[in-house]
Amino acid sequence: MDLTTKYLGLTLRSPLVASASPLTGTVGGVRRLAAAGVGAVVLPSLFEEQLKAEDERDAWLADAHANGHAEARGGYLPDPVLGNRPHQYLDLIKRAVDQAPIPVIASLNGVSPGGWTDYAWAIEQAGASAIELNVYYLPGDPLVPAREAERRYTEILTTVKAVVNIPVAVKLSPFFSSLGEMAVVLDHAGADGLVLFNRFMQTDIDPETFTVSGGLRLSSPAEAALPRAWIGRLRGHVRCSLAATTGVESAADVVAYLLAGADVVMTTSALLRYGPEHARVLLDGLRAWLDRKGFESVAAPRGLLARSVEGEPAYGRTGYLSAIEQATYTYTPHGTAHRRAGP
Ligand SMILES: Cc1cc2nc3c(=O)[nH]c(=O)nc-3n(C[C@H](O)[C@H](O)[C@H](O)COP(=O)(O)O)c2cc1C
Repeated sequence: MDLTTKYLGLTLRSPLVASASPLTGTVGGVRRLAAAGVGAVVLPSLFEEQLKAEDERDAWLADAHANGHAEARGGYLPDPVLGNRPHQYLDLIKRAVDQAPIPVIASLNGVSPGGWTDYAWAIEQAGASAIELNVYYLPGDPLVPAREAERRYTEILTTVKAVVNIPVAVKLSPFFSSLGEMAVVLDHAGADGLVLFNRFMQTDIDPETFTVSGGLRLSSPAEAALPRAWIGRLRGHVRCSLAATTGVESAADVVAYLLAGADVVMTTSALLRYGPEHARVLLDGLRAWLDRKGFESVAAPRGLLARSVEGEPAYGRTGYLSAIEQATYTYTPHGTAHRRAGP
C-alpha cells in the first residue's frame, strides 16, 4: 500500500507526523517514532523567551569580560532561567537528522518578529527540513484591534521566510474573526503549510480553593471536529499544505482527517498515552481501511469529503437548525412529549 505523501514540498513515507512534544525532544524518541513508521517529526518548540534569555546572558558575559569583572571568569553568571537550550536545540536537530531516516521539522514559538526569528537561519544550517512557526499569541488586552493581532502572524512569517530557504509552516489557533481570510493571507504571504490547530493552555478556576490553575491536558477525539471542518473548508482555497493536529487517537481519526483533505495528520496525545509505538497501530489501521475500501494509495481518498464539509447545507445554518431540533427531541422531556404524541 502506497502511503507516500507530499507535505511542505517534502516527500514523506507516510502521512502520519509526530507533532511537537517531549517525545520528539530526544534523539532516542525521534528514532523510536521513525521505527514505528511516522513520516516526519516536529521537534518541541524553541521559545522566543529562551532565545532572549540566552541573548541577555551573552550580553552580560561580554560586558563582564570587557570590564574585567572577576566573576565573569569564575562562573558567577546570572540565573540562566531557561538554560542554554538554544545550543542544545541545534545539537538535537543535527543528531536527529543524522540518526533518523525521516525529515526533522524544527519548531519556533514566539509572538514578536524580533531578533529571535534570526535563529531560523541557524536551524536551517543545523539540517532541519522545515520550520513550524507556532505563534502562540494571546491578545489579553481587550483593546487590541483584530487587524493588529493578525498582522503579527504575517510579520513573523515573512521575517522568517526572508532568512531561510527551507519550507515554513504556521501552526494556527482557531480564534480569528475570519479564520478563512487569515489562512488565505498567510498562504499569499508565503506559508508553505498551515497546521490546524494550536491548543492553548487550559486555564481554569477552582471554586473551593479560589485558585486559578494552568495546565496542558491531553486531547480527546471529539476535539478533532473543529480542525477537521476547517481543513475541509480550506482545501482548494489555499495552495499550501494542510496539516491536521488535535484529537487523533485511532486510525479512524486519521482517515477522517484525510477524507476532509489533510495532507498530513499529526498526533501527540495518543503517543503520550500509549507510547511512540502507537504510531504503528495507527498506520496499520490506515492500511487496513484503505485495503477494505479498495484504495490503492493514501492519495486516492484524500479530500473526498472536503466539499461536503464546505458546501453541503447540512453542515451550514440549515444543518444547525435541524441539529438543534433533533437534539431537542432526543434530550428534553418536551421532545419526549412530542415523540409520544407523534407527529
Ligand atoms: C506535553 C505536550 C507538549 C507540547 N509541546 C508543544 C510544543 O513545544 N510546541 C508546539 O507547537 N506544540 C506543542 N504541543 C502541542 C502538540 O504538538 C499538538 O499540537 C497538540 O497536543 C494537539 O494534538 P493531539 O491532540 O494529538 O495531542 C504539546 C502538547 C503536549 C501534550
